[in-house]
Amino acid sequence: MSFVRPVVARKPVAIEPASDIVVRQLVPTDSMEELTALLHRAYRAQVEMGLQPLAGRQDAATTRKRTSSGECYVAVQRTAAGEKLVGTILFHEVEDAKGPPWFQQKHVDSFSQFAVDPEIQGKGIGQLLLDTVERRARECGAAEMALSMAEPDAALMKYYIRRGYRFIEHWQWPYTNYRSAILSKTL
Ligand SMILES: CC(C)(COP(=O)(O)OP(=O)(O)OC[C@H]1O[C@@H](n2cnc3c(N)ncnc32)[C@H](O)[C@@H]1OP(=O)(O)O)[C@@H](O)C(=O)NCCC(=O)NCCS
Repeated sequence: MSFVRPVVARKPVAIEPASDIVVRQLVPTDSMEELTALLHRAYRAQVEMGLQPLAGRQDAATTRKRTSSGECYVAVQRTAAGEKLVGTILFHEVEDAKGPPWFQQKHVDSFSQFAVDPEIQGKGIGQLLLDTVERRARECGAAEMALSMAEPDAALMKYYIRRGYRFIEHWQWPYTNYRSAILSKTL
């Protein structure tokens, strides 16, 4: 299998997030179908690389189960027509599958299911979501914030390295077809 990221024209990048975007905690009235569709859109680039991330193919029931196992945040865009979900991040997900050794430590917290709508990427919404969970980890007394990512996605690895994360170890989840890289940042 080859993991080659397709060549995609990159849009100009704005420095500041759009002013009509707010990050808030997921509420029961948020649509799991809308959130799942957002995840599928965001992870499509990895799927097109031949990777099979869970968030790129999970159904709405799985999204509900995953989001209720941790603290889920959403970035919403307020328009005249109402709110639209444009990003999400899941702080402290508790998974059924055994996790990597780094995650087992008391001083380490983690996030997962991190996505921004491809239509609106590169505007700092990802950074707003990361700031939110890093703040929550500090409030919970963690000294490290960790994550698991698809190792073949070199552009994503650079994204995290630029934000202070470092490589810790490899891990194989039972539901993916690639090796994961565990990264962590000292808070
Ligand atoms: C990772 C992700 C959540 C980041 O969201 P985002 O809103 O684009 O993040 P930001 O705007 O804060 O930062 C974007 C960075 O990527 C670059 N970028 C991302 N999308 C871009 C686009 N469409 N065009 C140009 N640049 C883009 C920006 O230049 C910026 O780079 P920087 O590190 O030099 O600042 C988003 O790319 C995504 O949903 N990816 C697919 C799902 C995924 O891989 N999730 C992580 C799993 S571990």
